[in-house]
Amino acid sequence: MPPTPAAVPPERVDAGRIILRRVRASDASAIAAAVSASLDHLRPWMPWATSEAAERGNQLGRVAEADHNWESGLGYVYSVLTADHGTLVGEIALHMRDSGHSAEIGYWIAAGQAGRGYATLAAEAMTSVGLALPGVTKVEIHCDAANTASAAVARKLGYRLDRIEERHAEAPGESGQLMVWLRDRQPC
Ligand SMILES: CC(C)(COP(=O)(O)OP(=O)(O)OC[C@H]1O[C@@H](n2cnc3c(N)ncnc32)[C@H](O)[C@@H]1OP(=O)(O)O)[C@@H](O)C(=O)NCCC(=O)NCCS
Repeated sequence: MPPTPAAVPPERVDAGRIILRRVRASDASAIAAAVSASLDHLRPWMPWATSEAAERGNQLGRVAEADHNWESGLGYVYSVLTADHGTLVGEIALHMRDSGHSAEIGYWIAAGQAGRGYATLAAEAMTSVGLALPGVTKVEIHCDAANTASAAVARKLGYRLDRIEERHAEAPGESGQLMVWLRDRQPC
């Protein structure tokens, strides 16, 4: 009999030049510093990217929320770290949707670390983790149509553009056209 897939994703995922590790309170300072140095880069696309999010206390609260969600099976947030020095370069999350039948990936990479392939590596690893969870038949990446860098990540990973939905723009760079990219579980 094939082994039963784990119901909860691993807390650490090795992905070549980077490691995904469950976010923890001791990451809060590094996350706040990365957000602080990246506000202009993040603000167009991430509604939470405010000066408050650049404070350690705010990030401690976000880690506590991530812990609650992890324990509840609602979603899984990881710090993205370089494999060689353990430098925190961003975050990636797997949000459970549709009563656990699908999952949505969200990510950001610090401005000074962008363009090195980190989001692509992290999202590929996160896709495999998501599709390995029992009951999950598809993983989605949602991005605004104007966010060419994020759409490039989905396209490079073989996601297909399933649809474009109209929605209220939540961040200043957004057009209000939400691209929904999809990867299905391959039949065994
Ligand atoms: C989107 C984001 C995560 C990409 O991270 P990254 O680590 O720089 O991405 P990668 O290095 O893996 O690059 C992926 C592809 O995007 C392309 N890309 C990167 N920046 C780009 C830009 N500004 N415009 C167009 N394409 C871009 C790269 O060329 C690359 O494709 P290639 O290898 O074929 O050249 C990062 O830019 C970011 O954090 N942006 C702000 C937050 C955000 O938009 N998050 C996603 C919300 S849906």
